[in-house]
Amino acid sequence: MTKKMKTYIAGLDEILKGGFREGTSALLTGPPGTGKTILGIQFIYEGAKKGEAGIYITSEETVEDIREYAEALGMDLREYEKKGIVTLIKQTISAKKLMSIAAPLSIIQSKKVKRVVLDSITLFEYVHVSGEMDYRKEVLDFVLKMKESKVNLIAMSEKSISSIDDINYEPEDFLFDGVIILLKVRKGSSFEHCIMVEKMRGQDHLIDIFPFTIGKGGLKIFPKELPFSLIEKDSKKF
Ligand SMILES: Nc1ncnc2c1ncn2[C@@H]1O[C@H](COP(=O)(O)OP(=O)(O)O)[C@@H](O)[C@H]1O
Ligand SMILES: [Mg+2]
Repeated sequence: MTKKMKTYIAGLDEILKGGFREGTSALLTGPPGTGKTILGIQFIYEGAKKGEAGIYITSEETVEDIREYAEALGMDLREYEKKGIVTLIKQTISAKKLMSIAAPLSIIQSKKVKRVVLDSITLFEYVHVSGEMDYRKEVLDFVLKMKESKVNLIAMSEKSISSIDDINYEPEDFLFDGVIILLKVRKGSSFEHCIMVEKMRGQDHLIDIFPFTIGKGGLKIFPKELPFSLIEKDSKKF
């Protein structure tokens, strides 16, 4: 049996029944402002705390933005960068190439990296004027390289979700072993953050929708609770 790798994110390991299988690539998707970047930072930070090396590749923000964002949430990435456990990489966008894979690969080997975050794959879609197939092939190549290196990959993408009962799938969703969806559900005049694991190839996981909050330390997921906003919505049907 393949080894399970804990994410060390409270609640998520319970949903994943122990964590990701080694070499899993997961797409973390959902509308803007739902906590994808924060979950990515937390994944790298919690791993670093346990001595697991990680790389955070950002195309949307600068490396300094990520450091500051993490710090504001009580996660000091700088300390682990100094120790060489965490590496932040700014991915500049080129119309020709999704990304240069050489730099991350050499770091993965030299630092025995276990976790990689790619935030995000969405922007590349727009610069790929030559066609969707090229884009998909590059994403797939990256996913396969990560799998060969036995790292756990979390890649972000943006998805608009108008209703939790009506989620559309994009072609890139199928390139990943797993899909985790973050979304906000409205209840009256307020919103509630929710997480669901849509699929995770080759492993068992909880299939419910769980609420979470964002604060110091990042996401706090409640795997024993159901979202109040959805309970109320469903009860109205009867
Ligand atoms: N310091 C903070 N404390 C509490 N909530 C925060 C903090 N910083 C950001 N958030 C929440 O996190 C959300 C953004 O999360 P982020 O991971 O950047 O979203 P995404 O990457 O999905 O667009 C904001 O909309 C806000 O609700
Ligand atoms: Mg983001």
